Amino acid sequence: MKFFIDTADLNEIKDLAATGMVDGVTTNPSLAAKSGKKFLDLIAEICAVVKGPVSAEVTALDHVTMMKEAAVLRKIASNVAIKVPLTPDGLKTCKALSDDGVMVNVTLCFSAAQALLAAKAGAAFISPFVGRLDDVGTDGMDLIEDICTIYGNYGFRTEVLVASIRHPMHVVEAARLGAHVSTMPPSTLRQLFNHPLTEKGLKAFLDDWAKTGQSIL
Ligand code: G3P
Repeated sequence: MKFFIDTADLNEIKDLAATGMVDGVTTNPSLAAKSGKKFLDLIAEICAVVKGPVSAEVTALDHVTMMKEAAVLRKIASNVAIKVPLTPDGLKTCKALSDDGVMVNVTLCFSAAQALLAAKAGAAFISPFVGRLDDVGTDGMDLIEDICTIYGNYGFRTEVLVASIRHPMHVVEAARLGAHVSTMPPSTLRQLFNHPLTEKGLKAFLDDWAKTGQSIL
């Protein structure tokens, strides 16, 4: 499974990229606004750090303007994935860009039917939002299972990019279901490293080692 981080915080991106765990980055207009940076500069800076796909979202609602925005964004770097919303205009844009060899991430997916449309439009990634489905009392992971099954049935090459991840079990469950990518906040990626028995075991080992009075160096 590939790990993307869902953030526009450059310090976090640099820090986590150094662990070798960051295969890509996703941003959205809310995260970009929070960064306080100029959007085009922000995407360029992220692309200089992470070689994998970096999602940059269009903000227009109509196809013609989306295409104009995408033309600007795709010039920033070859690893920019254009993010479009799951609307008729978004999918029209997805189809046109995908036919032109551009990676497209279709976002705000909340149903298997929507995911099917995105795959038919040639999306490189579909982003189902599991956390926001959980928030309204629906099991987001049921949607991931449905999409993985449907895409498998027809051999679609669209990658299932599980988004709106809130905790490590979302990542584990997405991996169990065979989703291609999890995009998560930096805090969730950090949580994946942790286990109390690892900390406890390490402390015991080092306490015993200290008693020997030795040093490896
Ligand atoms: O970037 C899309 C998605 O991951 C947003 O997550 O936590 O705002 O629902 P969240």
